[in-house]
Amino acid sequence: MTPLIRTPKRRLITSALPYANGPIHVGHMAGAYLPADIYVRYLRSSGEDVLWVCGSDEHGAAITLRAKKDGTTPRDIVDKYHVEMQGAFKGLDISFDHYSRTSSEKHHKVAQDFFLKLLENDSFEVKTQEQYYDEEADQFLADRYITGTCPTCNADGAYGDQCEKCGATLSPTELINPKSTLSGAKPILKPTTLWYLPMGRHEEWLKDYIENGMLDGKVHHDAKAWKSHVVGQCKSWIDGGLQSRAMTRDLKWGVPVPVEGADGKVLYVWLDAPVGYITATMEWAEKNGKDWRDWWQNEDTELLHFIGKDNIVFHCIIFPILLKQHGDFILPHHVPANEFMNLEGDKISTSRNWAVWVSEFLENNPSGSDPMRYVLTSIMPEQRDSEFTWNDYRDRINNELADVLGNFVNRVLVLTRKYYDGIVPMAPKESVLTEVDKSLVDVLSGAGERIGDLISRHRYREAQLEAMNVARRGNKYLTEEEPWKIQKTDPQRVKTIMHLACQVVGNLGIVLEPFLPRTAEKISVSFGVNGLRWNDVSPSLVKNGTVLGDLPILFTKIDEETVETEKAKLGQKEVDSNDSNKNTVMLQKDSTTFDHFSEMDLRVATVTECVAVKKTKKLLKLTVNTGLDVRTVVSGIAEHFSPEDVVGRKVVLLANLEPRTIKGVESWGMVLMASTNDGGLKFVTPEDGVNPGDVIR
Ligand code: 2FM
Ligand code: ZN
Repeated sequence: MTPLIRTPKRRLITSALPYANGPIHVGHMAGAYLPADIYVRYLRSSGEDVLWVCGSDEHGAAITLRAKKDGTTPRDIVDKYHVEMQGAFKGLDISFDHYSRTSSEKHHKVAQDFFLKLLENDSFEVKTQEQYYDEEADQFLADRYITGTCPTCNADGAYGDQCEKCGATLSPTELINPKSTLSGAKPILKPTTLWYLPMGRHEEWLKDYIENGMLDGKVHHDAKAWKSHVVGQCKSWIDGGLQSRAMTRDLKWGVPVPVEGADGKVLYVWLDAPVGYITATMEWAEKNGKDWRDWWQNEDTELLHFIGKDNIVFHCIIFPILLKQHGDFILPHHVPANEFMNLEGDKISTSRNWAVWVSEFLENNPSGSDPMRYVLTSIMPEQRDSEFTWNDYRDRINNELADVLGNFVNRVLVLTRKYYDGIVPMAPKESVLTEVDKSLVDVLSGAGERIGDLISRHRYREAQLEAMNVARRGNKYLTEEEPWKIQKTDPQRVKTIMHLACQVVGNLGIVLEPFLPRTAEKISVSFGVNGLRWNDVSPSLVKNGTVLGDLPILFTKIDEETVETEKAKLGQKEVDSNDSNKNTVMLQKDSTTFDHFSEMDLRVATVTECVAVKKTKKLLKLTVNTGLDVRTVVSGIAEHFSPEDVVGRKVVLLANLEPRTIKGVESWGMVLMASTNDGGLKFVTPEDGVNPGDVIR
């Protein structure tokens, strides 16, 4: 029997507090902010009681390490990015009700009180233990302050809290060959006192909470609604046995531990940050004359955390333990975590500048937030990792937003103006509706419910697709009914067609709002439906006789130049070159091993023949003498070289790349090229005296 889940009276939504140590990129947006924004906009439009809070996460190693790298203070770093990140959120029309920050006095007090209550409830084990200490930097080392070889997978560069290669959670003393990330020094062991959260004590109830949605013997939430990757990750943590985790750190930057004799100690950032959700709620309530307790201490409130998958354990295991131990708070009812978004075939990386920075992108692309929102929602990593590419971005904007949505809305407006001076014609009598009309009416009748249901279940990709399908249906209807051909012979029929087409556009003004708020606003104002809400969606939304207002062209197509410019920015960093001009260089990739390098067979080859690959713009077929054999290699250089530029050249060949067939041509190996920083390509040419077959190592 499915347990009874109560309908909540209100919903409290949180999005992961982003670390204030760098700008916001598209991966962040698609993970924890855009999905929440769609959800919250839908709830608001449906008249639900909803509060959405977020803020900057201003403590932890991420901040202090950044400050050290930039030669400045943590305070300067957080002040800078607290402002900068809000710019990115505003730019993408992310509509938080309140945005807070964790370095505020208020938050310190709230987090300290929270800690004291846990202490009072006997939630910790206090242990004095040997911890790694950097004598040069005069600091204990935990989390990101210490690296070494992972004891589980042997990868180098594992951190004191986690190995990013294999995902193992670690404690600093487990690392092989530990090294301080502050000074590079080998740390010494020194005793210190830490407050540990013995998580093992909580395994049993957590299992019931995660797997069955039960808490204290009562139904708490619908466990089946949780995503399988979220439940899977939690289960494997619990099944692996929950280790005690220190809730304090010996650091200067953070929320001071409010206990006598604990000087120089701060709260673990993963205790203080989620409590930031509570602080943010308190601040909002104070500002708006509300009671924050309604949101955190009332069983009729549903609590949802929007996060990326790297935050699952903190929101589904550690924070629930903290909340339950405290005793005065509700626990999360849903954590619709997203997976990761990759970019052009690689992981998004801040340090390698392999990212699309939201503020920077919007500055250079004045078309506003909707196109970016649209693409990010289309490829949102809801169930698995996804990939952003600029070609896909261009195709979705050009073929979907411009050609379908923009074109449809524009045609309806233009025809209504032409035939009726922009006045929406009277609704037709039911009796004159054709089967095609009726099926369009059905699309509108069910649209609100269909799209709303998908949003409620956090299926944002499908929900947006369904909303766009309304536009697609309208566009197809107009194309097939061809009112322009019968306006002279059957003006009455054209009135029916145009009335229904106007209804479709008007409804788009409502159902697109969660996804494309600016476009929806423009449509709503023009079609006289602004201020109407989700429940108003219907085939008779737009009033007869409405005078349509002006509507600018909704979407501009993306040209090739924009795509190429954006691609060229990836991995580049501005540097000052010798002649003091600004120049750009490709940043270094993550470390590889000598073994990986020596697997590659690089050798000199000579190009003996070269022709274009038929029906392609970019490909040349090269015949090369490798010294071992004569073979063909397909190379994507046709936009930079013609076949006669290539014949006779000596090249560097990756000879043991697996053979593939590309556009029907066998390709065995890869010719290495240098990308110049103006977007050009050049051959890497071996010196005279080097011959085909000579090995490069
Ligand atoms: O991963 C991060 O960016 C963290 N700053 C998220 C914190 S979420 C919460 F607990 F505040
Ligand atoms: Zn590992």
